[in-house]
Amino acid sequence: MIHWNEGIISLLDSQGADEMNNGLEDVVAAETILSDVRGAEGQLIIRGHPLTALAGRWTFEETAHLLFTGFFADLPDAAEFAPRLGAARVDMFEATRKFLGSASKLSAYDGMRAAMAMLPDGTMLPDALRLLAAPAVLLPALIRLQAGDEPIAPSASAGHAADVIRMLGRSSGADALDTYLVTVSDHGLNASTFAARVVASTQAGLTSSVLAGLGALKGPLHGGAPGPVIDMLDAIAAEGDSASWIARALDDGERLMGFGHRIYRTRDPRADALKAALQSFGGVDARLRFAESVERVALEALHKRKPDRVLETNVEFYTALLLEAAGFPKEVFTGVFAMGRVAGWLAHAREQALTGRLIRPASRYIEPLTKEAA
Ligand code: ACO
Repeated sequence: MIHWNEGIISLLDSQGADEMNNGLEDVVAAETILSDVRGAEGQLIIRGHPLTALAGRWTFEETAHLLFTGFFADLPDAAEFAPRLGAARVDMFEATRKFLGSASKLSAYDGMRAAMAMLPDGTMLPDALRLLAAPAVLLPALIRLQAGDEPIAPSASAGHAADVIRMLGRSSGADALDTYLVTVSDHGLNASTFAARVVASTQAGLTSSVLAGLGALKGPLHGGAPGPVIDMLDAIAAEGDSASWIARALDDGERLMGFGHRIYRTRDPRADALKAALQSFGGVDARLRFAESVERVALEALHKRKPDRVLETNVEFYTALLLEAAGFPKEVFTGVFAMGRVAGWLAHAREQALTGRLIRPASRYIEPLTKEAA
């Protein structure tokens, strides 16, 4: 009989881990027309387009429309989609206004998730538009409430990213935020998208799928990394010696946030898209140079310590710098990630519900077995 956690862990470790795929690495669990993460080449394809053709060129509305195409019967054309999303932002603000006070007592991410849980759980275009609009409306409102300021109502006619910046009470950074939202809008069968698809495979509604995605995105091994990237940069700046800080962190068994990826065996192409957008901000040169120097030292240390594992810079490293420059507090970075990724979750949820089967893998039972069960 097992009585304590250590016992359970060693029991599980000792049992033929090679018979199962812990972490489902390389398991193909869905067919998709949405995106392809080409790990060996360091390329991301979104519905046929390389990320480099979308980031900084397409708006978030155009990218979400591209992802939604074919999955909603009454999808308007791209030109009509942006005002429909603008109208959804206005509706969301009105619909969630009464929850904002209590939601603001939680962290901004948890408050946003709680307010989104109040939305109807349908599968039609208006449901998707509400969920697409929700993080863009809720996050700025919660940030302002937590700072003691009144929320600013959305403008239906503004661009999506520009409206977020406006609702934050700021006037610059809209283009960089738009590039960011496009860059993170979809990325294969990552943990949060898989979670959203598992829920959609049961034929539950889009709100349920998006809430599953939000739950998975929150962890530091997925979307929770960029806030800790800022903590790492600040700690290194305070100590003044990147090499010794990084060596100590790795000696202590810590992971360097913003490095490593399950699929990419080369540099994450999203890191460069975001670095380019970051360069459009004035006044960030010193911060960027410092971050680049930390990146160089971190990569050198990781390559030396893990020569058999390709550990490169991932999307979260430059996400942290971009969102910091755009004026978001580091505690809400994961919520801004959700603002972009929700487009992918919604499209994947529809794709799974329309084309997939119930996702129900197997597990291998170890013990106990009572006499009656044997
Ligand atoms: N720092 C130090 N060591 C690392 C790092 C890192 N950032 N990433 C991986 N490693 C090491 C692991 O300790 C492990 O070493 P071991 O074999 O000696 O135990 C080895 O490399 C392989 O790591 P795994 O966890 O098996 O690799 P996995 O593919 O599961 O990891 C992950 C991917 C979770 C992103 C990992 O690289 C990591 O933890 N990075 C830091 C957190 C981060 O940046 N998260 C954002 C990811 S991007 C995104 O999801 C949007």
